[in-house]
Amino acid sequence: MEKLVLAIDQGTTSTRAMLFDHDGQVREVAQLEHKQYFPKAGWVEHDATEIWKNTRRVVAQVLSSAEINRHQLAGIGITNQRETVVVWEKGTGKPIHHAIVWQDVRTEQICQELAKDGGKERFQAACGLPLATYFSAPKIKWILDHVEGARERAEAGELLAGTMDTWVLWNLTGGSDGGVHATDVTNASRTMLMDLHTLKWRDDLCEAFDVPRQMLPEIKPSVGLFGHGRKNGLLIDTPITGILGDQQAACFGQACFTPGDVKNTYGTGCFMLLNTGTKPAISENGLLTTLAYQIGDEAPVYALEGSVAVAGSLVQWLRDNLGIISSAAEVEELAKSVDDNGGVYFVPAFSGLFAPHWRPDARGAIVGLTRFNTKAHLARAVEEATAFQSAEVLAAMKQDAEVELTCLQVDGGMTRDNLLMQFQADILGMPVSVPKVAETTALGVAYAAGLGADYWSSLDEISNNWQEGKTWQPQMEREVAARKMRLWAKAVDRTLDWVD
Ligand code: G3P
Repeated sequence: MEKLVLAIDQGTTSTRAMLFDHDGQVREVAQLEHKQYFPKAGWVEHDATEIWKNTRRVVAQVLSSAEINRHQLAGIGITNQRETVVVWEKGTGKPIHHAIVWQDVRTEQICQELAKDGGKERFQAACGLPLATYFSAPKIKWILDHVEGARERAEAGELLAGTMDTWVLWNLTGGSDGGVHATDVTNASRTMLMDLHTLKWRDDLCEAFDVPRQMLPEIKPSVGLFGHGRKNGLLIDTPITGILGDQQAACFGQACFTPGDVKNTYGTGCFMLLNTGTKPAISENGLLTTLAYQIGDEAPVYALEGSVAVAGSLVQWLRDNLGIISSAAEVEELAKSVDDNGGVYFVPAFSGLFAPHWRPDARGAIVGLTRFNTKAHLARAVEEATAFQSAEVLAAMKQDAEVELTCLQVDGGMTRDNLLMQFQADILGMPVSVPKVAETTALGVAYAAGLGADYWSSLDEISNNWQEGKTWQPQMEREVAARKMRLWAKAVDRTLDWVD
């Protein structure tokens, strides 16, 4: 009987279940979107109960479409939108508040207060991250400060906290009936509470953020046994053998196993990760130090990351908030109908600016408008914004790590957009290459879970599965690209210091 690996990808806008075979090929996919809540400007929430329901439904769908049952699953992997946190009752499994999403900026005040004593970089040596609204710890603090009685209940051991991997794992393994409360090192490295070297929660960081340690999950390696499917569920007794944050999963799926390997994923946001080997490197150019993966009790592997908050979500904004296009795919057609951006630059600082700027005070701006411009120029500016932001991150990475890059490996939904990928190659002056299986996030965690379940035996075996799909060669003259980058930098300047 042929065995497959099940990957659950709990993303920012949807939850997917995917089945992969031994060649790393996709056998079946099921996907459900969940509602985005925007209660105030800059706030973004998810209903964790809806997400868990969707998870169960996509798992059931994928098994039934493939006409298989749990006996044919070698193992299960979980990957997820990172940093987003949920706090729930241990006894009932009910969240005490909507999950606060990574893009949410409500914790700006908390971060500013903490930065007064030692600056934004105060905790960077300990946890690899600057103080920013992006990460989980200030979000947990906000929930405990704002939900009545929450802090006392957390201290009494009645509440649990976790990123979305932890939420899915706990429910999958039994929920209030003995669910496993754990996370992996990659997700823990996004909280601001984990020590970068020992890979344990740090008391001083928990104290600084007022987070009772007893509500935090156990930190485990990314590859290894986390638990088994719950007794009364579809996945009864099936081992969960891999967990990775989604960007680390994409890195794993791209087989970035050697120091110097880089990938860029174009999803809701854009995330570039560079494997830096078994020692953490601290950035001097606005990049994050993060865990790439840890296999069992082997030495952990670290990465430098450049995170861009808004990429694909800008296209959704164009569709949902302005109604200029009716589907995300239309943006390319509209952008292609003009020769260039007509002088328009769009800096989508909706959640402030992330890497390499880390400016929570920034807000979005469209600049360079003249009467000549049409919605097509706006669409073009939307496309180009993603490429400019990625170029800024790559420049920071080159400075930090002195890497010689000859080609950028890319993946994610937006790589289907030819105009964007060509423009990315043009702006970077470097080829951009997507693998045959562009679903590297789900594939990456399937690989992790498959390694944990002895379905694949080594990283070499996984690397051998990697196949080039398509490559875009740079065509733009370097001076033209440099001028565009200069104008982009001017546009970025216009967005700063906006929040007073
Ligand atoms: O850090 C946030 C990131 O993990 C979200 O990824 O793919 O849901 O946009 P994605």
